[in-house]
Amino acid sequence: MSSPQAIWERYAAKYAPRRAVNAAGATTWLNWTQYPDHGPDETVLGDLRGRRVLELGSGAGANLAHLAALGAVCTGIDIAPSRAELARQTWGHLGGLEFATADAVDYLAGTNTSFDIVYSIFGAVWFIDPEVLFPLVRRRMSDGGVFAFSQPPAAPQENKADQVVQQRHLPVRQWTEQLAAASFSEIKAETVDAPEPGKTGTVLIYARAA
Ligand SMILES: C[S@@+](CC[C@H](N)C(=O)[O-])C[C@H]1O[C@@H](n2cnc3c(N)ncnc32)[C@H](O)[C@@H]1O
Repeated sequence: MSSPQAIWERYAAKYAPRRAVNAAGATTWLNWTQYPDHGPDETVLGDLRGRRVLELGSGAGANLAHLAALGAVCTGIDIAPSRAELARQTWGHLGGLEFATADAVDYLAGTNTSFDIVYSIFGAVWFIDPEVLFPLVRRRMSDGGVFAFSQPPAAPQENKADQVVQQRHLPVRQWTEQLAAASFSEIKAETVDAPEPGKTGTVLIYARAA
């Protein structure tokens, strides 16, 4: 049976680079949804300058690069080793950001660093049991910090019990309960409609570590 790391490395091999410039002419930007030039921007995360930021499942690093460009001190972790390598090559010149290869649970359990902002975009949060992950995230966050994540809305669970990587298609109510149980407050959830009718929207959830 393949390991989660091997599965995500195979996924990484199919990666198509993001455009160099978006519709607004920017060279870095943050995209919460699966559609280009669509949805809310980084303001959901609050003040960024000087803030310590962690992205869980940072992929090729394009979203984190935007936050570094805005003055945040950024760490991106991804389970697939080629992602950190590519992210460093592509975005290392910006400074203020580092990328590491790690499983999100292992990283959070092992680090002593405290973060002001933790976020995930269709990333590790979508694939880890929130009962395990959320308390670990909370423990590594400074009081008043923001935890935010996006993924597809709830859908019938298609995972098989023995599936190595399981998607967590939870209803908003369940995400909210898990966040509250892990001592997050001011929990907000919004559904961002797809740019075209009939396509899947995006759920964006954010909460305060307080
Ligand atoms: C669908 S991709 C999204 C990547 C990136 N956030 C983006 O928006 O382009 C999911 C990413 O999460 C990473 N990932 C999945 N499970 C993980 C885990 N347990 N720990 C760390 N990274 C994980 C994968 O390797 C992959 O790069």
